[in-house]
Amino acid sequence: MGEALNGLKRSMMCGEVRETNVSQKITLMGWVQRNRKLGGLQFIDLRDRTGIMQIVFGEEINAEAFEKAKGVRPEYCIAVTGEVVLREAPNENLPTGLVELKCESLKVLSESETPPIYIKEGLDADERIRLKYRYLDLRRPDMQRIFMIRNKATKAVRDYLDNNGFLDIETPMLTKSTPEGARDYLVPSRNYPGMFYALPQSPQIFKQLLMVSGFDKYYQIVKCFRDEDLRANRQPEFTQVDLEMSFVDQDDVMALNEGLIAHVFKEVAGVDVKLPIKRMKYKEAMEKYGSDKPDLRFGMEIMNITEDVKDLDFVVFKSAIENGGSVRALCLKGGANLGRKQIDKLAEFVKTYKAKGLAWLQIKEDGVKSSIAKFLTEEVTNSIVKTTKAEAGDAILIVADKDSVVLQSLGALRLHLAKEFDLIKDKNEFNFTWITEFPLLEYDEEEGRYSAAHHPFTSPMDEDIDLLETNPGAVRAKAYDLVLNGEELGGGSIRIHDSALQKRMFKALGFTEESAQERFGFLIDAFKFGPPPHGGLAFGLDRMIMFLAGTENIKDVIAFPKNQNAFDYLSEAPNIVDKKQLDELGIEIAKKEN
Ligand code: AMO
Ligand code: AMP
Repeated sequence: MGEALNGLKRSMMCGEVRETNVSQKITLMGWVQRNRKLGGLQFIDLRDRTGIMQIVFGEEINAEAFEKAKGVRPEYCIAVTGEVVLREAPNENLPTGLVELKCESLKVLSESETPPIYIKEGLDADERIRLKYRYLDLRRPDMQRIFMIRNKATKAVRDYLDNNGFLDIETPMLTKSTPEGARDYLVPSRNYPGMFYALPQSPQIFKQLLMVSGFDKYYQIVKCFRDEDLRANRQPEFTQVDLEMSFVDQDDVMALNEGLIAHVFKEVAGVDVKLPIKRMKYKEAMEKYGSDKPDLRFGMEIMNITEDVKDLDFVVFKSAIENGGSVRALCLKGGANLGRKQIDKLAEFVKTYKAKGLAWLQIKEDGVKSSIAKFLTEEVTNSIVKTTKAEAGDAILIVADKDSVVLQSLGALRLHLAKEFDLIKDKNEFNFTWITEFPLLEYDEEEGRYSAAHHPFTSPMDEDIDLLETNPGAVRAKAYDLVLNGEELGGGSIRIHDSALQKRMFKALGFTEESAQERFGFLIDAFKFGPPPHGGLAFGLDRMIMFLAGTENIKDVIAFPKNQNAFDYLSEAPNIVDKKQLDELGIEIAKKEN
């Protein structure tokens, strides 16, 4: 049972009461953190989103409130009115710790059952329970802090973009499939039975149309939907800070976005991002770090030892090299002490990335120990040591295969070793880098054709345009990703605005004129009417907040997230719907085969 406010007004927030308020009469409202009896008095810790305030009840202060307070339990929602006084026993750990409120009147606004999760800082309850009772999980101070950070960040984004002449324009959620490469979420149409809308994977085409319309600078903080395999940094619906600009080239878009990031990190976290942010070409990132989102907080680059080992009589290396692959290595400082079991584990690890094995050399004080000792000569050993700059005490870890496997597996091993051996020293570092000159096209082995690495409207680099027909795999794109500590924070590109070039691009992607028209006809048509040169970028807002809030789980920064299988434990979606609803949509559920 709950009492009504009856005109009672809150005068302050719990966490804001200070010594300056002593002798004032105030009213607070919030939730009971705890209630305890002490020396004939009753003490309630009252919580709202700003913090905790101690409320004291006593026979002498107000007998009625005192009696009522005895029955109050954790998570009851209450209102208290009384005088602020100095505490006899101050609590230095609490911002409000010097004062307390002597309660003269208590209203129980609503009672609470015993909550299934304990509402307190830093709790690690079962995720399923946390998501089912998300509204209670969100009462926890550490969760509330994250959403205050999120709010501060989106405000900083809006302020910055508004100051730079961007217009916030909404784009449709019920639309035609957008080509970002993931699976679409489909919405059946009642008006057109058998037809479907797609929820946008991003506003990509619409923001380009807004450039054709002459809006010049567009932005939106917008939900995007992608039905893909979920990971710690992926959700099926997530939020982008999406923007597009006209009359710009790569450097303009990158400069604007650096400014945006610097502003947000300064406003929200007090972090000074050093501008300009360094840049690295895709090719260098892949060769040195085996990744297009390298973590540059530590070194340990991948080194090519193909030349050093090419004459060895070891069939694994030989055949890799003969087949156009390579032999590459990481040098692990201090790795000479690793035991056999530890090294075997590393070999198992690289096998999950398709490497067939991991050869190793340990440079010990009394000589070199190696898994390929019987094939090595002293000369080759010295040559490998020289190239990898290994010293006594180090281990050299080697993979031979085709380049893609070598780089991917060593890239992953590099990150694995950084974790295992704590190679990232400064945990507070924000290491930003742009990755540029991405390949425009990727060869899809399954489909036997090229597909767009970013999306089909990304412009090739001017000097590579003529390779579109002769060597499509070698064409580089005017595309750029912003990487932070080994995560892709955002990505974008300069778009093709010339219809002749767009046609060549579609052709390289294996679209016929008809199939391109069918999928992207409305964009192709729009580009007949004077499209300006344009380009843009989108940040993953959730990922940005993860960094600002210092969490590695994307669910922590989304108020009502889905689980790893895109299920919502709170509302229990997806669910079965009425037959009537299905009939209206002309949908029949196919019988599952047993
Ligand atoms: P892209 O596909 O690279 O680009 O997406 C931009 C950024 O969105 C974030 N992101 C995600 N975050 C959480 N969960 C997901 N499932 C997820 N997928 C992507 C990433 C990524 O860098 N239209 C283009 C942008 C452009 O060209 O302007 C686009 O969507 O941080
Ligand atoms: P073997 O002669 O099969 O015992 O292999 C000798 C060493 O080479 C072992 O440490 C294997 O793990 C390693 N090895 C096998 N295949 C590869 C490969 N593709 N790249 C690097 N090392 C490999």
